[in-house]
Amino acid sequence: MTTNKTRIAVFCSGNGSNFKALFQAIRNKQLPAEIVLCLSNRAQCGAMEFAEQNSIATAHITEKQFASFDEFTLAMVKRLKEHHIDIILLAGYMRKVPDAVVSEFPGKMLNIHPALLPKFGGEGMYGIHVHTAVLEAGETETGATVHFVNEEYDKGEILLQRTVPVLPDDTPETLAARVLACEHALYPDALEKLLTLQKS
Ligand code: GRF
Repeated sequence: MTTNKTRIAVFCSGNGSNFKALFQAIRNKQLPAEIVLCLSNRAQCGAMEFAEQNSIATAHITEKQFASFDEFTLAMVKRLKEHHIDIILLAGYMRKVPDAVVSEFPGKMLNIHPALLPKFGGEGMYGIHVHTAVLEAGETETGATVHFVNEEYDKGEILLQRTVPVLPDDTPETLAARVLACEHALYPDALEKLLTLQKS
């Protein structure tokens, strides 16, 4: 490629507020990186709309489009290679990334989780369920975690974490909003850290 910027694919399924925050932060912090692909299991969602509005390539890929899981996986890897992807950032991607895709990107795939892993992680711990569990456990603080992706849900090495307080009158929704705001600063910082680590 002619550019020496790190080429990023974001995987999303929903609103894409983390994707938007990453996109802005790459500009504001002048990071040597560029989001070049938005991959989603949903043809239409906030993230895909944002990608289209900002001339970022989109890929709608789901298992249902293929005769077998292997074909689905191969198509995903092929698309990532076509776009010369260096790093994958999962940002609200509501599917498990196939192992064959994970193994193509060792140390180059990150996920953001809305809690302080290893607490409140694993299968079923997503969205509002996480914040409900945090409140039920009587935690006084929670936060967000950016971690490397491996074959197990939420189990990869932690790259960066940040805490936020749990307030006495919090509902799952108010807590979710506070954690999400934290994520929007944390994910760009984690990306910056990864880019620095890769240089050294
Ligand atoms: C975030 O809370 C993230 O931690 C989780 O899914 C949510 C995605 O939100 N993995 P958005 O689509 O980035 O707004």
